Amino acid sequence: MYRLIKTEGTARRGELATVHGMVQTPGFMNVATAGAIKGAVSAYDLMELGCQVQLCNTYHLHLRPGDETVKRLGGIRKFTGWQGPVLTDSGGFQVFSLAKLRDIREEGVTFSSHIDGRKIFMGPEESMRIQSNLGSTIAMAFDECVENPAEYEYAKMSCARTARWLERCKAEMARLNREEGTLNPNQMLFGINQGCTYHDLRIEHMKRIAEMGLDGYGIGGLAVGETAGEMYSVIEAIEPHMPKDKIRYLMGVGTPANLLEAVRRGVDLFDCVMPTRNARHGHAFTMEGCRNMLNAKYVLDEAPLDETCDCPVCRRFTRAYIHHLFKAGEMLAMRLTVMHNLYFYNHLLAKIRDALDEGRFEAFYKENIETVGRRI
Ligand code: GUN
Ligand code: ZN
Repeated sequence: MYRLIKTEGTARRGELATVHGMVQTPGFMNVATAGAIKGAVSAYDLMELGCQVQLCNTYHLHLRPGDETVKRLGGIRKFTGWQGPVLTDSGGFQVFSLAKLRDIREEGVTFSSHIDGRKIFMGPEESMRIQSNLGSTIAMAFDECVENPAEYEYAKMSCARTARWLERCKAEMARLNREEGTLNPNQMLFGINQGCTYHDLRIEHMKRIAEMGLDGYGIGGLAVGETAGEMYSVIEAIEPHMPKDKIRYLMGVGTPANLLEAVRRGVDLFDCVMPTRNARHGHAFTMEGCRNMLNAKYVLDEAPLDETCDCPVCRRFTRAYIHHLFKAGEMLAMRLTVMHNLYFYNHLLAKIRDALDEGRFEAFYKENIETVGRRI
């Protein structure tokens, strides 16, 4: 159940109650694709980093170790040691971005595993069954994520099929939730809006799925080739058609500036590999901008990564030390930078929530939108 607490313009402050705990929004979800945060950060560390929700992937866990195995081990929360809420993405994105030799039909998608080339079929029912076996808190609908730019006719056809797939997901999830031995009989289902950069398709699709009374709504097919401006204008176009009393999740986005812009346009929830991926390349996010820790200017710099950060890394280590760890190829370089970046993302959202609570989000936005996107 999502509760809208406060608004400022189109920006929203709310909370999502789940059987595995509360999620304060706007909020960020930490990506643990195959059940692990890349950069050797465990579920134990996540608690210290202000993480509220862990995101895992249907596609990866189905291939390895297998969702049946995860179910036998008590579900994804028990398996990974993360006791809070878990959202599983449906495979609808990974199948299209990772797998080879895809064959997309009305029933679903046939593809070859990126691990061993094995042929696999996944449709709405399979995706729901896998997510049910994983026992996540929130399951995502099985969709097609089309890269931008896309032909109008293809976008239209795909979007209509994704809407039909959603009907099948909803029916199957209802059935699985009633099934004996199901791990989470209260598993939620979020629909996903598609339609590329075509506002008419986006709006029509949004209206159609809004009527289905789902637990939440994802905005998919963004940050896949279009400009940031196009992404913001899609959000603006669909926002008036999104149910006010349901959570809104912008999938796979984005930079700190993207998050500020999207919150301002009415988005509640995010996930992105950026804090982990960028950290592994030596990039540390701060409120002043993004630092490249490989830069020689840090050799003798005794300040923490971010002087305004209270994370476990900034409380103990200097830029000079982290620079040295990267130069020396030490694994610890990545682990420490990933930890800082995850803390930074979760706390950026916490600061946004505080600003909304106090009716000063617009001021917070104006103060930070330029600086947070800089490279320093
Ligand atoms: N992650 C980022 N974008 C998407 C999308 O369009 N669909 C799904 N299922 N996951 C995503
Ligand atoms: Zn820090």
